[in-house]
Amino acid sequence: STGICTFDPGFTSTGSCDSTITYIDGKKGVLLYRGYDIEDLAEQGDFLDSAYLLLMGELPTSQQKADFDRELTLHTLVHEQLIQFFKGFKHDAHPMAIMVGIVGALSAFEPYSADLADPESRMRGCLRLISRMPTLAAIAYRTSMGYPVIYPRNDLDYASRFLHMMFAWPTQKYEVDAVLARALDKILILHMDHEQNASTSTVRTAGSSQANPFACIASGIAALWGPAHGGANEAVLRMLEEIGSKENIPRALERAKNKQDPFRLMGFGHRVYKTFDPRAKVMRKVCHEILEHLKIQNDPLLDIAMELEQVATHDQYFVQRGLYPNVDFYSGIVLRALGIPVSMYTVLFAVARTVGWVSQWKEMAEQQQQLPKISRPRQMYTGHMQRDYVPLKERG
Ligand code: SDX
Repeated sequence: STGICTFDPGFTSTGSCDSTITYIDGKKGVLLYRGYDIEDLAEQGDFLDSAYLLLMGELPTSQQKADFDRELTLHTLVHEQLIQFFKGFKHDAHPMAIMVGIVGALSAFEPYSADLADPESRMRGCLRLISRMPTLAAIAYRTSMGYPVIYPRNDLDYASRFLHMMFAWPTQKYEVDAVLARALDKILILHMDHEQNASTSTVRTAGSSQANPFACIASGIAALWGPAHGGANEAVLRMLEEIGSKENIPRALERAKNKQDPFRLMGFGHRVYKTFDPRAKVMRKVCHEILEHLKIQNDPLLDIAMELEQVATHDQYFVQRGLYPNVDFYSGIVLRALGIPVSMYTVLFAVARTVGWVSQWKEMAEQQQQLPKISRPRQMYTGHMQRDYVPLKERG
């Protein structure tokens, strides 16, 4: 409806909130994490740099980075009983359905991380979630395939460790390809935070009720799952497969413009960016680097994506509406080249966005210490005003 929603916990009446974490300029296509440009962070930094920056507010010194890495690495294992939880899901359960359940269940295994008034306990909750999300994600995939669970190797970096848990076999040696791991590292950085998007706002709203961090992140995972949000990377790949060839692109564009047709150009458009999403530019470069490294010459889906980007970004309908490729447009192609199954694309987005979610949750919890306020959106009521009850026999 045309309801005007306003949030309370540190939010102004325009439905926004105070934050120092991420800045977006939708018109100029600018994205800054704590003032640093996303392209610099992805190209020159690594996962630990950006994760520390978002959580703590500054880039780490060498010692801080080493301590942060050790703290994350020490807690990559999950309680063995939690692994039984995975076996309770139907074999073909979508990994996002599993993640919503499992991450919420973490609060049953991590009570000491939920004393919200204690800064140490809050920080512990954040760190445990960043440490364990890749392990949980990999177990969700492995158990859904009937594969043996691969335990985290703490001698590997964050991205390599995830790839190893996803694709290694207990029966043979598995070497992580360093180029693929670096590509995944960049993808994780690009997806870490994006100010008050739907899933992050969900986490902040859940957090304002003083729910524990695990329950809050589980609510963020649920919100991210939607194809209009984090589920778009999976939807882009299915769209490119549905288009099938470059010859079908004009027809696809006509369908996307037709309001009667539910077909939309997935990976195009954004609530904030009305120009190229800066993450899409980096993702496009990663895409070409990976396909070159893997010597994949003519990837039909990439050919369609490149042609679609060219045609749509010169089509008045899309240009007038500020509809350009967003972060999801190329990520599906890169993840497919990395061997990540389509069902895991949004799970990977959730693994990366956990860093932003916990950073935003921590900021909200700190704000709540100053001004405890539960989120209570208001509405513009457009329904009936009070009227008399009509007994059943008079209702016809
Ligand atoms: C993410 O918020 C975030 O930060 C999210 C995210 C993050 O990091 O957290 O960036 C991640 O969610 C990226 C977005 C992923 N979603 C998709 O790629 C799905 C496809 N995109 C659309 O669903 C849509 O573009 C939205 C929801 C992303 C944004 O829609 P808006 O800005 O609310 O635009 P709108 O719905 O008001 O549409 C404006 C016009 C309309 O046409 P008119 O009524 O003006 O004639 O543009 C049209 C829409 O019909 N339109 C599209 C379109 N998106 C909008 N037409 C065709 N294809 C599209 N994709």
